[in-house]
Amino acid sequence: MSVLESASFIAQNSKNVHIPIDNIDRAARFTLDNMRAKEYSTHTWNEHALQPKEKNTSTVDWIFLVDVLNFSFWSDLDDGCKENSERYTVKYKGTPYTGYWSLCAAINRALDDGIPITSPTYYANASVQDLADVFASETKESIPLFKERVAVIHEAGQVLLEKFNGSFVNCIRQANFSAAALLRIIVENFPSFRDIHMYQGREVYILKRAQILIADIWACFDGQSYGEFHDIDTITMFADYRVPQALCYLGVLEYSQELLEKLNKRQMIASGSQDEIEIRGNSIWAVELMIRRIKEIAPDQPINAILVDFYIWDTAKEIQEQMNIPIHRTRSIYY
Ligand SMILES: *[C@@H]1O[C@H](CO)[C@@H](O)[C@H](O)[C@H]1NC(C)=O
Ligand SMILES: *[C@@H]1O[C@H](CO)[C@@H](O)[C@H](O)[C@H]1NC(C)=O
Ligand SMILES: *[C@@H]1O[C@H](CO)[C@@H](O)[C@H](O)[C@H]1NC(C)=O
Repeated sequence: MSVLESASFIAQNSKNVHIPIDNIDRAARFTLDNMRAKEYSTHTWNEHALQPKEKNTSTVDWIFLVDVLNFSFWSDLDDGCKENSERYTVKYKGTPYTGYWSLCAAINRALDDGIPITSPTYYANASVQDLADVFASETKESIPLFKERVAVIHEAGQVLLEKFNGSFVNCIRQANFSAAALLRIIVENFPSFRDIHMYQGREVYILKRAQILIADIWACFDGQSYGEFHDIDTITMFADYRVPQALCYLGVLEYSQELLEKLNKRQMIASGSQDEIEIRGNSIWAVELMIRRIKEIAPDQPINAILVDFYIWDTAKEIQEQMNIPIHRTRSIYY
């Protein structure tokens, strides 16, 4: 079963999450108008201050490490909408960064200090103390799931060294310009990317980090060189904790009273639980429905789930404080 088939299956069988179909058209038009107004494209990815500016094999190494670690940046201190000033923060070139950007800032800070943190030969066996220094915080809160991060860093580095001559570039080469093939290579070889769960007796594929890894490479290289994939549109939305919140705000995701109460009480939602799978699966399916609608409204608009996801994620960060529903609190290495 593919990610999209998994999402469709989850959407059809959900109990606590629902997609109000009547709102898809409005959300699609709103998103389309805004993406057009902002001229949203892969270039937008490259405009972020912390994303790599050079395009070479080291850039691929950088993106790979970032997506090995691209999970669980929400803070126990936050209320689910507003950020607490004591949360995990990394300062880079004088600017404090939180959330996903704190990861990029920590990696760039280490590179500037001469630590070859993006090199698999370095990180396959980097000591816990060295990694603690790389991810050191400006505040009292340290990076969430530090132990898990050390484990996935070591594992990813060792797989690259043992099977891919020490670089993710060789995975890309083996995929022969196919995003679907690259997705398979990642999931088969790197255990920490197996974001696969049981739902209603069936195995479902969400694959957030594996897909965003491919998307980041595509966007960074503007669909050229290491970023050239003839089937990039097979990649789906990346089911994390931030985009579902924004999809609720857009009116294309709706939670049951029971689930809303859990979120409002800031209860933990277990990784792999029915509620968690429903939030993530319906998010993927809601974005798919929005894209189908956008293609009907504007057949010439270059659009895919990656661009819509990136656009919604950027917007969600901007309007975070207006959100009417808190994020769902799941601690996992998958997102
Ligand atoms: C990692 O380093 C430790 C200590 O130096 C060593 O014992 C171990 O064999 C190394 N492992 C790998 C995979 O290089
Ligand atoms: C493996 O990588 C090294 C440099 O990193 C290169 O010199 C060597 O040719 C590569 N081997 C293969 C089989 O690609
Ligand atoms: C790569 O893909 C092309 C076209 O899709 C195909 O003709 C070729 O045989 C593939 N090469 C390998 C090594 O799989």
